[in-house]
Amino acid sequence: MKITVLAGGFSPERDVSLLSGSLIANSLCHSGHSVALIDVFFPYEGVLTDDAFTTDGNFCYNIPKTPPDLDALRRQVPGSALIGEGVLKLCAISDVVFLALHGGMGEDGRLQAILSSMGIPYTGSDFSACLAAMDKSVSKLLFRAAGVPTADFTVTRTGEIPHAVSYPCVVKPCSCGSSVGVSIVDNEASLKEALALAKKYETKILIEDLVVGREFSVGILDGKALPAIEIRPKDGFYDYERKYQSGMTEEICPAELSEADAKRLADTALKAHRALGLGSYSRIDFIREERTGRFVCLEANTLPGMTPMSLLPQEAAAAGIGYDELCLTIAHSALKTE
Ligand SMILES: Nc1ncnc2c1ncn2[C@@H]1O[C@H](COP(=O)(O)OP(=O)(O)O)[C@@H](O)[C@H]1O
Ligand SMILES: [Mg+2]
Repeated sequence: MKITVLAGGFSPERDVSLLSGSLIANSLCHSGHSVALIDVFFPYEGVLTDDAFTTDGNFCYNIPKTPPDLDALRRQVPGSALIGEGVLKLCAISDVVFLALHGGMGEDGRLQAILSSMGIPYTGSDFSACLAAMDKSVSKLLFRAAGVPTADFTVTRTGEIPHAVSYPCVVKPCSCGSSVGVSIVDNEASLKEALALAKKYETKILIEDLVVGREFSVGILDGKALPAIEIRPKDGFYDYERKYQSGMTEEICPAELSEADAKRLADTALKAHRALGLGSYSRIDFIREERTGRFVCLEANTLPGMTPMSLLPQEAAAAGIGYDELCLTIAHSALKTE
């Protein structure tokens, strides 16, 4: 097949995406496919033709320690287009578009809507599910309605502190990922600082009760839950640096849980996946509340990290599904009509 892997994009998570994208592209090449790896944000006027596809599989990328400077990137590529010229044309001559994007219009449904309307098969979830998953406040309302436990929360759009805040709490931009702009605070002064930080990324900000307990994530692949992974940051919480710099977080897969708890977690993850109408794969984040034993759902990721060391590929490996097979399964699922 001819597969275009879309990565990068104008998103705080572009570096993570470029790493996922290059590894997915290599894997698909190893499986015998012709692959074009494209940074969706860059204008490729006239240069994107059939020649963009290769079977070499020699892509590589390293993630810098800190999130990318989007203002500097914008200066590099003036204008307001989120999709570079020529990118969609290449998608249209591909058999499948593999979305390795994280955050922004690659994950919030906008790109999915464009690809759907052009009749181009793409991986992951459709645009309505992406939209529901991208905004954490919308997801949480749908989780609640489906009986999936989730922490109490309020939303501020003004950056003002709402009346009903209890400490400690977690502040996060509603639609970011990779812990970008997320803070845990226990007093009003640090809440103000946290709101200012979150506001750099988005004006709609979620303030959520802190859930104390062990953290887990559960991948869903083709309608089944993969073995859960436990995430244990060596200190602090699972922030951007602890997510992407090696050695800062211990990850245990399969998670050490009793059979009954593992089943309850898997069932809750599937319920959350279905509550948002997600597609062939996703990854759902949880904290097991120490006080009550409940698995409290934080959020759903429609395009989870896809390096072999990312959480979902580790879970797939624990289920006997290697990285190449995982990438192929996801690529093929784009061609299935429901
Ligand atoms: N309510 C919460 N209680 C405790 N920790 C939280 C809470 N919400 C988020 N966190 C911590 O912040 C991290 C990022 O939050 P999450 O909601 O998963 O957003 P994202 O991964 O999209 O940035 C989580 O992995 C967890 O470590
Ligand atoms: Mg998360």
